[in-house]
Order: sequence, then C-alpha cells, then structure tokens
Amino acid sequence: MSGFGTFVLKQLPPPPQRVLEIGCGEKGGLVALLRDAGYDALGVDPEAPEGEHFRRIDFREVEGSFDAVVAGRVLHHVRPLDDAVATLAELAPLLIVDEFAPDLIDDAAQDWYEGQYRMLAAAGAVSEYAPASLDDWRARHPDLHPHRALLGALRTHFEEQTLEWVPYLHRWLRGPSSAALEQTLIDGRAFPAIGYRWVGRRIC
Ligand SMILES: C[S@@+](CC[C@H](N)C(=O)[O-])C[C@H]1O[C@@H](n2cnc3c(N)ncnc32)[C@H](O)[C@@H]1O
Repeated sequence: MSGFGTFVLKQLPPPPQRVLEIGCGEKGGLVALLRDAGYDALGVDPEAPEGEHFRRIDFREVEGSFDAVVAGRVLHHVRPLDDAVATLAELAPLLIVDEFAPDLIDDAAQDWYEGQYRMLAAAGAVSEYAPASLDDWRARHPDLHPHRALLGALRTHFEEQTLEWVPYLHRWLRGPSSAALEQTLIDGRAFPAIGYRWVGRRIC
C-alpha cells in the first residue's frame, strides 16, 4: 500500500462513507484500496480508467455531496486555485491532500536527486517517470503553485487538522532504497522535505 493510502485510511472515519478522489489518474489512484476497505469511493479524472467507480470528468463538474475528498498531487497546477478549493469545500466537509512543494527543491536536494537518477539510469533501473534534469523539469512546469500559495488556499476554506512533511523525490526515482535515503538526508538537514500530507475540515 502507498504511503498516502495508509495516511488516508488513518484519516477517514470508519466506513460507510462516500469518498471522492479527484485527479485519480489513469491507474485509478486509491479508489480500489478504498473500496476494498469498505468505502463507497468514486474517482474522477479526465484520464480515469474505464469502470463504474470512475468518471472521466473534471472535478469541478462533479455534482452531489460526499463525506470526504481525497486529492493526490492534483491541486498544485489547478487554476484558479481558490475557486477550486471552494468547490471542494462544497463537495465534502473533510479534505485529505497529498502534495509537494516544487519551490523547496534547493541546490542540495537537486544535486542528490540528479546524482541518484544518474546512478539508477546507469544501472538500467530508473523510473520512466523520473525527470533527468530538474532545471528542464522546471522549464516544462513554470506555473506550479508554491506551497505557501496552496496551503493558503486550503486554509481559507478548511481548518487545518494535520500537516506532515515527508520525502518526495524518491517517488520520481522509484529506486529500491531511495525513500529511506531521502528520509535520512532530511533528518540530517542536508535538504528539506519536499512532500506534504494535509488534512482539513470545512470552515462552516
Ligand atoms: C500527477 S497526476 C496524479 C495522479 C495520482 N493522483 C497520483 O498521485 O499518482 C495528476 C492527475 O490530476 C488530473 N487532473 C488535473 N486537473 C484535474 C481536474 N481539474 N479534475 C480532475 N482531474 C484533474 C490529471 O489528469 C492527472 O491524472
């Protein structure tokens, strides 16, 4: 189970609950995990898989009400951001977010990441999703929301319950020991945590 999956299951009240996952991606995100755990889960994404528990739509087109919304790595590029978070507050009283802070990738983090990438690539073990150069990646994604802007929008519509900073770059690398190594370097203050998990309750 993914780290975010474990986190979401801890944050949700026990089933039955209606859970909407926005930006579930082409693999369906956490919908199968949530359904297996007894939740009535629906995933929406223009690239969602086929199936009765998925809809290929933008989350701003969703109608109805839910007990919770799960948003994994989708809000950092949604615009206008404040309107999008207001929509989520209309859909459910509980919001669980998995995000990352591109603005916190400093020189040390970039050096570590790109070094790991080169070693894994030389061994033929690099993930197809991993960018080789973070400068090139930044150039391709110039308008991602910095973490303060995203957290600010979330806190406007939801009262923050939890904010946990976690390793993130290993998720691009997918190397067998990258997560533990990244955590060690964060603990030793070599560079900051880039990922965060956040939970908020709707402000009535
Ligand atoms: C980086 S992927 C994350 C996929 C998955 N949640 C994960 O964490 O692996 C972002 C996904 O959000 C989807 N997305 C972006 N804007 C969206 C919107 N307005 N409504 C629904 N899905 C959206 C994209 O199609 C993409 O599949």
